[in-house]
Amino acid sequence: MTYGTLPAVSDPPFSRIAEVYDAIMADVEYGDWFDFLVSQADQRGRPAHGRLLDLGCGTGNATRPAHERGFTVDGLDLSGAMLDVARSKLPDVTFFEADVCTFDLPHRYGLIYSVFDALNNLLDDAAFLAMARRVRAHLMEGGVFAFDANTTEGLKTLWVDGRAEGWAGDVYYRWQHHFDETTGFASVEAYCDGPQGAFTEVHTERPYDPSDLRRLLEQAGFTRVDVLRYPSAQPAEDTDERVWVFAI
Ligand SMILES: C[S@@+](CC[C@H](N)C(=O)[O-])C[C@H]1O[C@@H](n2cnc3c(N)ncnc32)[C@H](O)[C@@H]1O
Repeated sequence: MTYGTLPAVSDPPFSRIAEVYDAIMADVEYGDWFDFLVSQADQRGRPAHGRLLDLGCGTGNATRPAHERGFTVDGLDLSGAMLDVARSKLPDVTFFEADVCTFDLPHRYGLIYSVFDALNNLLDDAAFLAMARRVRAHLMEGGVFAFDANTTEGLKTLWVDGRAEGWAGDVYYRWQHHFDETTGFASVEAYCDGPQGAFTEVHTERPYDPSDLRRLLEQAGFTRVDVLRYPSAQPAEDTDERVWVFAI
């Protein structure tokens, strides 16, 4: 199969990628990640009767295991295009189109979770703090906030001038990664060519190291912050590439 050439202009992040996102993520172990989140949250006293919120849920890939396991779960994302896919896959779930930094929902939750570095899209401390404060305001007594994050080590290792290229089903992708040592930001120029045509999106992530995460979450009012490795649940360090955070 052949597809077109690289368009010169980039589409906004998480717009066209909604068309091909699930094909590219087909091998991701969302179910295992979700079970890890819940089991660690339970060890920290998650109120069992509380509903769940998947923050930066995208196309609902980590919302689905919650729904399938019988939890009452809502999803929230900024991208209408990603949410269109999520709603078509999970018509019984409520999805809110909102910014994680400003959201205001009618429910309180026993577990608010976020996966696949959605929160690395928050590019400065002010945005992360605003998000963490909104999360805290939406947790019920004893509720747990759990998420994964790429660290500096992770973005350097995974994203430093690396190229990922291949086919995911009928989607050809060629992703060029870059880590800027000066700014500390990582970016990926994601070229995809699928049944609905070719496009390029540029995504930027800011790394969060365990020390940043503890400082920011404590500033937002969380009193216990555990930063762990997956799947061992051992304490993580700044040298880990990807960490899992549990805050109460
Ligand atoms: C890499 S995707 C992860 C999606 C999903 N969590 C998954 O694991 O497949 C990141 C998601 O975060 C969302 N996002 C980024 N910044 C956001 C913000 N400020 N508020 C809400 N969603 C945001 C994007 O729209 C995108 O759907």
